[in-house]
Amino acid sequence: MILGICGSGRKEGNTGALVEEVLKGTASETELVWLIDLNIGYCTGCMRCTFEGGCWQKDGMTDLYKKLIDCEGMVIGSPCYYGDVSGLVKSMMDRSIALGYMGIGKESAQPMHGRKPLADKPVAIVSAVAGHGVERALETMESFVTFGEMKLVGKLGAAAGMEDIREHKNFMDEARELGVKMKGALGKP
Ligand SMILES: Cc1cc2nc3c(=O)[nH]c(=O)nc-3n(C[C@H](O)[C@H](O)[C@H](O)COP(=O)(O)O)c2cc1C
Repeated sequence: MILGICGSGRKEGNTGALVEEVLKGTASETELVWLIDLNIGYCTGCMRCTFEGGCWQKDGMTDLYKKLIDCEGMVIGSPCYYGDVSGLVKSMMDRSIALGYMGIGKESAQPMHGRKPLADKPVAIVSAVAGHGVERALETMESFVTFGEMKLVGKLGAAAGMEDIREHKNFMDEARELGVKMKGALGKP
């Protein structure tokens, strides 16, 4: 299963449309998760996860940890807010620090970083923006991919002003193409 993670609160918005299009391009079994529905608390930085084997907060992230570990690949989408990712995406990434201490996956070269249960999973990242600032939003998501030792399949920053991205064929084509690349990265015909 390829997991789509959308960090926009607007279900009719552009980020969701891009994530859905990438998922469609994979022609695979997919699941789309809207972070806005999950009630994800902030990472408190307590680092209890490092010795308790997981996060003490039991919320929407508890189930998402399982999905992240079980999926074959991921499509992560964030709207660009103030030249970076949305708070929803940032919280998801911050809370994912606990994944390193669940006793699964390969050991990190840096013992402090625990394990890397998402290592080698292909990931596509997309960000919808009105005008400017999408580069850093993509960079932030890319740093999450790099830290997790996942494989970046490709990225797409799509500027559509206040318009509906579905009317921008070029971006929709690029999104679908990303999905095709994701399928290729999974070794699927
Ligand atoms: C809090 C907030 C901050 C934003 N910051 C930027 C920005 O830095 N640059 C920009 O071009 N658009 C910015 N926008 C516009 C959004 O990036 C744009 O509307 C995008 O399509 C939102 O994604 P969505 O359609 O999935 O909701 C911002 C919008 C909001 C609500």
